[in-house]
Amino acid sequence: MNLKPETLARIDEVIPHYPSKRSATLPLLHLIQEDVGYIPQEAIEWVAARLELQPINVYEVVTFYPMFRQKPIGRRHIKVCRTLSCALLGAYRTCEAFEREFGVRRGEVSADGEVTVDFVECLASCGTAPVVMIDDALHEKVDVARAQELSAQIRREAAARS
Ligand code: FES
Repeated sequence: MNLKPETLARIDEVIPHYPSKRSATLPLLHLIQEDVGYIPQEAIEWVAARLELQPINVYEVVTFYPMFRQKPIGRRHIKVCRTLSCALLGAYRTCEAFEREFGVRRGEVSADGEVTVDFVECLASCGTAPVVMIDDALHEKVDVARAQELSAQIRREAAARS
């Protein structure tokens, strides 16, 4: 399992905090998803081995919780808050704008591998709804026009990389 050294260090630190190793399943899966963007099959086997479980035990956790994804995401991850304040102020329109801009549906990766668009729950900035996280950056008051500007910026950054 190819994880960043800092992820491996955090995993080593987390496991002894739990009286039974099995209880570390959720935190380990979160750390892995943070690192690689999803939970690949090999991660399920790796976590099972680390926690002395059967892979099926870890697989059940991955499939039970909707926040775990089993497919890779795009290089850029656009997360649109859909909780009450954001929903009331147009989060659905904002999300659709991103989907249109990149020709992608929620939860899928754009054809060029650049972008995944997802709904998420409250991003704790309800006073500036609708709120969007792009990778680790929070963007406030993202209406359709702002979503189009941010999409253009993502395309510029992708072009600059190539
Ligand atoms: S409801 Fe969207 S940030 Fe809280």
